[in-house]
Amino acid sequence: METNQTLRLFIVCFLLHSLTSISSLSTKNIITDRDALLALKARITHDPDNLLAKNWSTSTSICNWIGVTCGVRHHRVTALNISYLGLTGTIPPQLGNLSFLALLAINDNNFYGSLPYELGRLCRLKYINFNYNQLSGKVPSSIFNISSLQELRFKHNRLLSMVNVSGTGHNLMSLDLSENSLEGEIPSFILECKQLQFLNLTFNNFRGGIPKEIGNLTKLKTLSIGLNKLQGEITQELGNLVELESLILRDNVLTGQIPSLLFNISSLWLINFTNNSLTGDLPHNMCSDRRQATVLKKLLLSINQITGTIPYDLWQCRELTIVGLSYNQFRGCIPRNIGNLTKLEVLALGGNNIIGRYLIESINNIIQ
Ligand SMILES: *[C@@H]1O[C@H](CO)[C@@H](O)[C@H](O)[C@H]1NC(C)=O
Ligand SMILES: *[C@@H]1O[C@H](CO)[C@@H](O)[C@H](O)[C@H]1NC(C)=O
Ligand SMILES: *[C@@H]1O[C@H](CO)[C@@H](O)[C@H](O)[C@H]1NC(C)=O
Ligand SMILES: *[C@@H]1O[C@H](CO)[C@@H](O)[C@H](O)[C@H]1NC(C)=O
Ligand SMILES: *[C@@H]1O[C@H](CO)[C@@H](O)[C@H](O)[C@H]1NC(C)=O
Ligand SMILES: *[C@@H]1O[C@H](CO)[C@@H](O)[C@H](O)[C@H]1NC(C)=O
Ligand SMILES: *[C@@H]1O[C@H](CO)[C@@H](O)[C@H](O)[C@H]1NC(C)=O
Ligand SMILES: *[C@@H]1O[C@H](CO)[C@@H](O)[C@H](O)[C@H]1NC(C)=O
Ligand SMILES: *[C@@H]1O[C@H](CO)[C@@H](O)[C@H](O)[C@H]1NC(C)=O
Ligand SMILES: *[C@@H]1O[C@H](CO)[C@@H](O)[C@H](O)[C@H]1NC(C)=O
Ligand SMILES: *[C@@H]1O[C@H](CO)[C@@H](O)[C@H](O)[C@H]1NC(C)=O
Repeated sequence: METNQTLRLFIVCFLLHSLTSISSLSTKNIITDRDALLALKARITHDPDNLLAKNWSTSTSICNWIGVTCGVRHHRVTALNISYLGLTGTIPPQLGNLSFLALLAINDNNFYGSLPYELGRLCRLKYINFNYNQLSGKVPSSIFNISSLQELRFKHNRLLSMVNVSGTGHNLMSLDLSENSLEGEIPSFILECKQLQFLNLTFNNFRGGIPKEIGNLTKLKTLSIGLNKLQGEITQELGNLVELESLILRDNVLTGQIPSLLFNISSLWLINFTNNSLTGDLPHNMCSDRRQATVLKKLLLSINQITGTIPYDLWQCRELTIVGLSYNQFRGCIPRNIGNLTKLEVLALGGNNIIGRYLIESINNIIQ
C-alpha cells in the first residue's frame, strides 16, 4: 500500500518532469528559429525597401514575418522565401538551426561570402535556391549530406569548388551549378546521385573528359555541360541514358566521332554539340531504323570537323525544326528528300563543300 503510493507519486513526478522538459524544449525551439532569423537580419547590410527592418519585428510572431511560413502543428519555420528583395548580406551559421525547414529560397538577391557548413544540419530540407547571388568559395560538402534534398540551385554565383563530397545526395533530382567558376573534373559525387533528372553545369571551368560513369545516371532527362573546357571523346555510355530529352555539350573541345547510339535514344529532341572539334561521319541510318526519328526537333552540330555526306535519311526525322550543320567538312549533295521535312524552320549548311543540286526542289517543298 505504502510502496504503491510512493510508486504513484514517483510516476506523477516523472510525468510532470517530462512534460515540463518537453514544453521547455518546444519554446526553446521557436526561440531558436527566431534567433536564427534575427541573426540573418543582422547580416543584411542593404535592404532597399526596408522590408525586413520594418516587418521582421520582435513584437510580432515570426510566423507573421514576410517570407516566413510555419508548420500548422508544431509551429516551427518550414519555409523561408526571401527571393527578389534586393538584399545584400551574408549567410549566418545560425540558419542551420532552423531544423524544420523544408524550403529555402534566397535567390535573386546580392548575398555574398561563403556558405556556412552548418546548413548541412537542415535534415528536412527538400529545396534550396541560391540562384543569382554572389556567393563565393567552396560549396560545403555537408549540403550534399542532406538526404531529403531533392533540388539544389546555385546558378550564377561565384563558386570555385566543391569539397570532399562523397557518396551522398541520394535523393537529389535536380542540380544547377551553371554560371559559376567551378574548376577541375566533373565532381565524382555528382555521378553517385542516381536520382538526378536535371543536371546543368554550363558555363564553368570544368576540364578533363566526360566521365563514363555519367551513363549510370539513367534517370537524366536534361544534361547540359556546355561552355566548359571538356575534352576527349563523347563517351559511348551516354547511350545508356534512355530517358534523355536534351543533351547540350556545346562550346567545349570534344573530339572524335559522335557515338551512333545517341541517335537511338527515343526521347531525345535536342542535341547541341555546336563549337567542338568533333570528327568522323554521321551514321546514315540515324533517322531510319532508330526510334528517335519520331522526336528529334533540333540538331545543332555547327562549327566542328564532321566529314562525309549529310545522312540520306535525315528527312525521316520528321519533327526537325532546326538543323545546324554549318562550318564542318560535309561534302556531296543536299539530300534530295530534305524537302520532306515540312516543319523545318532553319537549315544552316554554310561553310561546307556541299553542292546545291536539289536545293531549289527542296526549298520549294519546305515553302509549300
Ligand atoms: C509583415 O508582412 C506580412 C506579409 O506581408 C503582413 O501580413 C504583416 O502584417 C507584416 N507585419 C508587420 C509588423 O508589418
Ligand atoms: C518565393 O517567392 C517569390 C515571390 O514572392 C515567388 O515568385 C516564388 O515562386 C517563391 N518561391 C518558391 C520556391 O515558393
Ligand atoms: C544555433 O547556431 C549557432 C551557430 O551555428 C550555435 O552557436 C547555437 O548554439 C545554435 N543553437 C541555438 C539554440 O541557438
Ligand atoms: C553526414 O551525415 C552523417 C549522419 O547523418 C554524419 O555522421 C556525417 O558526419 C555527415 N557528413 C558530413 C560531411 O556532414
Ligand atoms: C578534404 O580532404 C582533405 C584530404 O583528403 C583533408 O585534408 C581536408 O581536411 C578535407 N576537408 C574537409 C573540409 O573535410
Ligand atoms: C543551363 O544553364 C545555362 C546557363 O545559365 C542556360 O543558358 C541554359 O538554358 C540551362 N539549360 C537548361 C536546360 O535549363
Ligand atoms: C557505373 O559506371 C561504371 C562505368 O560505366 C561501371 O563500371 C559501374 O559498374 C557503374 N556503377 C554503378 C553503381 O552502377
Ligand atoms: C567556341 O569555343 C571557344 C572556346 O572553346 C570560344 O573561345 C569561341 O569563341 C567559340 N566560338 C564561337 C563561334 O562561339
Ligand atoms: C536502336 O533501337 C532499336 C529498337 O529498340 C534496336 O533494335 C537497335 O538495335 C538499336 N540500335 C542500336 C545501334 O543500338
Ligand atoms: C546551341 O549552342 C549555340 C552556341 O554554341 C547557341 O548559340 C545556341 O543558342 C544553342 N541552341 C540551342 C537550341 O540550345
Ligand atoms: C518525299 O518527297 C519526295 C519529293 O521530294 C516525294 O516524292 C515523296 O513522296 C515524299 N515522301 C514522303 C514520305 O512524304
